[in-house]
Amino acid sequence: MKQQRSQFRAIRGVRDILPPESALWNRVEQTAHHVFATYDFQEIRLPIFEETELFARSVGSDTDIVSKEMYTFQDPLDLDQLVKAYAEGGPNPYKKAFGREGLKAALWEVMPEFQWLTLRPEATASVVRAYIEHSMHTLPGDVKLYYMGPMFRRERPQKGRYRQFYQIGAEVLGQSDSPAIDAEVIEMLMAYLDRLGLSGATLYVNSIGCKECRPEYVAKLREELLKVKDQLGADSQRRIETNPLRVLDSKLEHEQAIIERLPRISDHLCAACREHFAELQAQLKLRSIEYKINWRLVRGLDYYTRTTFEITAPGLGSQNAICGGGRYDGLVELLGGPPTKGIGFAIGTDRLVLALQEAGKGESASHIDVFVAWLGRAESPVYAAAVKLTRQLREEGFVVELPPEEMKLKKSLGLADKLGARYALIIGEDEIASGSFVLKRLADSEQRKLSESELLNYLKSDENRKVAAAQRQS
Ligand code: HAM
Repeated sequence: MKQQRSQFRAIRGVRDILPPESALWNRVEQTAHHVFATYDFQEIRLPIFEETELFARSVGSDTDIVSKEMYTFQDPLDLDQLVKAYAEGGPNPYKKAFGREGLKAALWEVMPEFQWLTLRPEATASVVRAYIEHSMHTLPGDVKLYYMGPMFRRERPQKGRYRQFYQIGAEVLGQSDSPAIDAEVIEMLMAYLDRLGLSGATLYVNSIGCKECRPEYVAKLREELLKVKDQLGADSQRRIETNPLRVLDSKLEHEQAIIERLPRISDHLCAACREHFAELQAQLKLRSIEYKINWRLVRGLDYYTRTTFEITAPGLGSQNAICGGGRYDGLVELLGGPPTKGIGFAIGTDRLVLALQEAGKGESASHIDVFVAWLGRAESPVYAAAVKLTRQLREEGFVVELPPEEMKLKKSLGLADKLGARYALIIGEDEIASGSFVLKRLADSEQRKLSESELLNYLKSDENRKVAAAQRQS
């Protein structure tokens, strides 16, 4: 008989985000809410799973994501819904012949019983699906949306690469493909990273042309690749047929010199794409955004046209891309919507958090302001006073820890110290009798006696000093 497991662990490539690191995640997400809002982006909350076909059609069935990495499963069809659709769809022969239950039974016989669903590997496809489903093209101006949440790809796990990972992304959908939109999206991204205090990030940009000029370039690239096929690895050899552009992405050492000699897309852009890319660069300069051109930046998803970009951060090893994005004019049409232009990006939150930690910006200061060291029994007035004061302090916004059981003073102060609390507030019978409490600053053991109102005022003014000092430093 199979022995029962005594413990469970998170599955490979999937992890828990524990405190205190979760505080940094909160900061990263809150800052995104704040910064993106100043650019008039609004949040969209999307489902975690969608029809498999949505990703196959948008991301592309030859991409690594769709061909190897998706978590896909079969879900029984909701026959009730199907029957309702039939019943409401006007006269049909089955309705009379079978009746509702009969139709359901008949459908079970003839229909494939399952639909294919996939845990989202990215969210641009979902945003576009929602844009079409809710007729957002009728809204005034460009539709500017952002999202955050988990994505799923069955990749080989390593530092910075997980099977459940998180993204913070933003998309602009509308009628204009002006490079000013691309530049503003990038500006928002850089402003966000700046606000988080991330330094040393590098922005790479490229243009991969449009459906007018890219096919010709791809044909030329394939022709050149076929000449050097024998010198390439198996993956690149396969990609000559399926997706030659992806060969440019290769990290294989021995392929680098060969790739450097291949034709570059910048020499094959049509006049409109060349102009678009030049204007994007002018717009970036106008905004004093530093960038580097990387002609090999083709990205691993099929929906891109023209602008592509990526941001790398130091200290992350091989998984150093903290953000990727680009333009996807035509994707809305591909998924059945009206002609629409689109551009956006997604930040890998896991990698951004790692990068902030590497840059020394990951520390979150001790979060406990006051540890209430109360001395007495649970039914004593001391405890009642401690409960009341704790609530008052929390209402003022202080983080307060109140031990649930009586503790000796030494133990209480020891725990307050270990938890990194800024102050211990000592409440015993003497303090209740005299109406003044002892507030001990744990960093230097300075003690002061304060009445209840003095206590609140003192903590508030001290808090103001702390905030002012933090602002001076940043
Ligand atoms: P992507 O380049 O596939 O683009 O992913 C964006 C970012 O997600 C990457 O730069 C990386 O930081 C992070 N990421 C991807 N896979 C993993 C993983 N397995 N573990 C940890 N982090 C990962 C997209 O997803 C597009 N939807 C971006 C976009 C939005 N383009 C236009 N709009």
